[in-house]
Amino acid sequence: MRVFKLSRPGSRVVAAIILIVGLLAIAPVGAQAPSGINPTAQAVNEQQLLDELSKIQGRITIPDKKAATLQQPQGRDFRGFHEGVLPWIGAIAVLGMLVVLALFYFIRGRVRMLIPESGVKLLRFNVIERLAHWTTATAFIVLAITGLNFVFGKRILMPLIGADAFSSWSQWAKYAHDFLSWAFMLGVLAILVMWVWGNLPDRYDAHWLKVGGGLFDKSNRTHPPAARFNAGQKLIFWSVILGGATLSVSGIFMLFPFAYTDVNGMQLAQTIHAVVGVLMIAVILGHIYIGTLGMEGAYEAMGSGTVDLNWAKQHHSVWVERQEAKATPSRTAATPAE
Ligand code: HEM
Repeated sequence: MRVFKLSRPGSRVVAAIILIVGLLAIAPVGAQAPSGINPTAQAVNEQQLLDELSKIQGRITIPDKKAATLQQPQGRDFRGFHEGVLPWIGAIAVLGMLVVLALFYFIRGRVRMLIPESGVKLLRFNVIERLAHWTTATAFIVLAITGLNFVFGKRILMPLIGADAFSSWSQWAKYAHDFLSWAFMLGVLAILVMWVWGNLPDRYDAHWLKVGGGLFDKSNRTHPPAARFNAGQKLIFWSVILGGATLSVSGIFMLFPFAYTDVNGMQLAQTIHAVVGVLMIAVILGHIYIGTLGMEGAYEAMGSGTVDLNWAKQHHSVWVERQEAKATPSRTAATPAE
């Protein structure tokens, strides 16, 4: 066999040529495929996937199935709502209500008693009713403050008190919100059971609503007849029951995250909870106003539980008639309102 022995420099050149030719021959389809298509440029990109699929999911072996979702485009809509739309709804509802109440107070003034007090007291709410009311009210006020912290805290409070203090406060606020929610739910249930009969529609409601309950009559002379609860109070009652039920159900979804629903359901629950929450705060501000500053003698009903007979005649004339019809010899010992 003949062996070719190349001189040294020549052999290097030949080896290099063989290497290059060999590499070209075995090279996979590289930057330019035979079809002329550049696969890198044509590859499916993230946006195309997001347009095609409701979420980008893979397969995982760990128990937490949520981890399989890499991207969920609705999350961006949710974030947009939570960071942009919700604070506006909250600010308009809560500040709007405060402005309306302030204007009402300065223009209309308090709803005053037409006739002086008689000195005779009627029992309007017994101790159990007052306990249930104040438990619900206290829980709601804490829930409202800590709930508003979720929406506005980092925008308003954090710049004022600093990130560290805000972080500790928010942690406690979250615990308070989670635990007091149970007291609120129980309270709403008690309110439903105690007062549902007095808050069913009756024949006095239409007229009461037509004259706005006399609230807009500065002379204080318009006092439409009403039974135990007037139409305005019935609106508050049903807002508390329906709003409270919605907050409770959506809240339970959040107290036990992912126990009953997936990430879309969680976002829906949070959206409903937040919107109903801020609207209910606005409604309750109206209720607190009329129960304190807005109407002379109203607070007593829930404070001591009794009201003056003349106050009751002015605001709940039908209730007084019914109480008198079943009156015992002593009015001061009257039975709790029906
Ligand atoms: C500081 C806060 C509050 C004050 C001063 C207050 C005051 C009152 C007063 C005086 C009454 C009796 C009205 C009457 O004689 O018929 C009442 C009733 C009632 N309260 Fe409150 N309340 C407060 C908070 C709340 C809260 C937070 C809720 C529920 C979330 C609530 C739900 C109710 C309901 C359902 C009634 C019966 C229906 C009605 O009168 O509108 N209250 N409250």
